[in-house]
Amino acid sequence: MVMETASFVDKLPDGGCLAVGVYADGTLSPSAVAADEKFGGIIAKGVKKHAFSGKLSESLCLTPPDGPVDHVLVVGLGDVAKQFTEFDLEKLGASIWAAAAPLDNAIAVAIAAADVHHPDNGAVSHIGFGALLRSWDFDKYKSKKNEKNKLRSITLLASDCAAAENGFAELQKIAAGVFLTRSVVSEPANVIYPESLAETALQELLPLGVFVEILDQRQMKDLGMNALLGVAQGSVNEPRLVILRWNGADDSQQPIAFVGKGVTFDSGGISLKPGEGMHEMRCDMAGSGTVLGLLKAVALNKLPVNVLGIMALVENMPSGAAQRPGDVVKSISGQTIEVLNTDAEGRLILADALWYTQDRFSPRMMIDLATLTGAIIVALGHEFAGLFSNDDDLADKIAKSSVRTGEKVWRMPLTEHFDKGIDSEVADMQNIGKANVRGGSITAAQFLKRFVNNVPWAHLDIAGVESSSSDDLFLCAKGATGFGVHLLYDFLRENYGK
Ligand code: BES
Ligand code: ZN
Ligand code: ZN
Repeated sequence: MVMETASFVDKLPDGGCLAVGVYADGTLSPSAVAADEKFGGIIAKGVKKHAFSGKLSESLCLTPPDGPVDHVLVVGLGDVAKQFTEFDLEKLGASIWAAAAPLDNAIAVAIAAADVHHPDNGAVSHIGFGALLRSWDFDKYKSKKNEKNKLRSITLLASDCAAAENGFAELQKIAAGVFLTRSVVSEPANVIYPESLAETALQELLPLGVFVEILDQRQMKDLGMNALLGVAQGSVNEPRLVILRWNGADDSQQPIAFVGKGVTFDSGGISLKPGEGMHEMRCDMAGSGTVLGLLKAVALNKLPVNVLGIMALVENMPSGAAQRPGDVVKSISGQTIEVLNTDAEGRLILADALWYTQDRFSPRMMIDLATLTGAIIVALGHEFAGLFSNDDDLADKIAKSSVRTGEKVWRMPLTEHFDKGIDSEVADMQNIGKANVRGGSITAAQFLKRFVNNVPWAHLDIAGVESSSSDDLFLCAKGATGFGVHLLYDFLRENYGK
């Protein structure tokens, strides 16, 4: 989809659709009033005739009898005094896209920052960003494409075109990162497996100036990554560890590391999952997919900060060569693990990846992303990612980015009670909690914590938010959400990237 800006006075669209805003008290926004003058009052009349509510995100489509546009889309702006945030503007853009996509192939949006009491004229670029995010669709395997989505271009009728275009230039690059994440998460496991995902990372990021290093099975064996290798050993697809380095700042600056769980398919292994819903486990690499999309957004926008992305890629399969429940493995840290359930595999691969990251790169901080536990969906539904951290300042910064971007996180506890719950009779620890210790997402996080020394660290359990099963989410249709790319881009930019 193309987005451009035009000045309201010079250019009213010729054909297509024009979007204008109306408040919940039925009054037209200043921009809508200006448009209505040019349209001979049809907007005010239409709103009255249809008793349009003006409620936020509701819309009404009017068809002017004799042009100049084919449709006028009247969108509710809610309370006349409401000050929109950037996220509110994104939701507005997404709802405009959803309403206009079946109608026309071009839409002009006459909603200025002043209409929604935003102090920054460039903020309307977030309307374009929201529309762009909502427009993404994974239809590459459909012979017949969705004909309902006609919309190809959006023109923002901005009061300050340069500011809007500047803002949009950055947002469009963030969207490119989100789309890469959504696309690799959507791909089936016969297309995306460790080797092909590593190759995708190379193809996508090398041209952007990101250093890409790929460790194979042999190299990981030599390093002693037996916890990761144990998960991979049942599959014919070999594991990979991808190391992505964006050097946006001086060499002396320690990097900020992002580590992603990348189980390209999680069958459960010998502790096989039930058949129903098993296909969803092709998305079990969403943590790594997010790391990949984040690095793309960071590199495209050339953020002046050193960022490291680590993708731990394996396929978890049952076979004669697979790891058995009860096996004991020695992780790269030297700590031994009793594998009581081969389906609790994410923590095993992250144990080695986290330790390796802190040991080799001495990062300023580490943030891991993982579709780690079904239990986090029991706790937080599909609304929030679980946030665990050993550092309050880091957790607060992520929480602030969460509010700004609308990608919701909820802080969860880490305590000794749950740590004790993973002590093992035969090894240093076991990979699932003891029967009397519940809170499966917390025991999983405590397990990871044993592989983090004093580095400030945060863990995001994204099992409930990486995909959406309905069209209800504003910024994305059904399917992969790309959760975490915008959140962590904002975290980097606001705290370290200026
Ligand atoms: N990949 C799953 C977690 C998951 C579940 C992600 C549902 C998305 C949706 C993970 O590897 C897993 O199987 N975890 C087990 C852990 C248990 C064996 C302790 C779980 O959550 O059931
Ligand atoms: Zn599993
Ligand atoms: Zn898994």
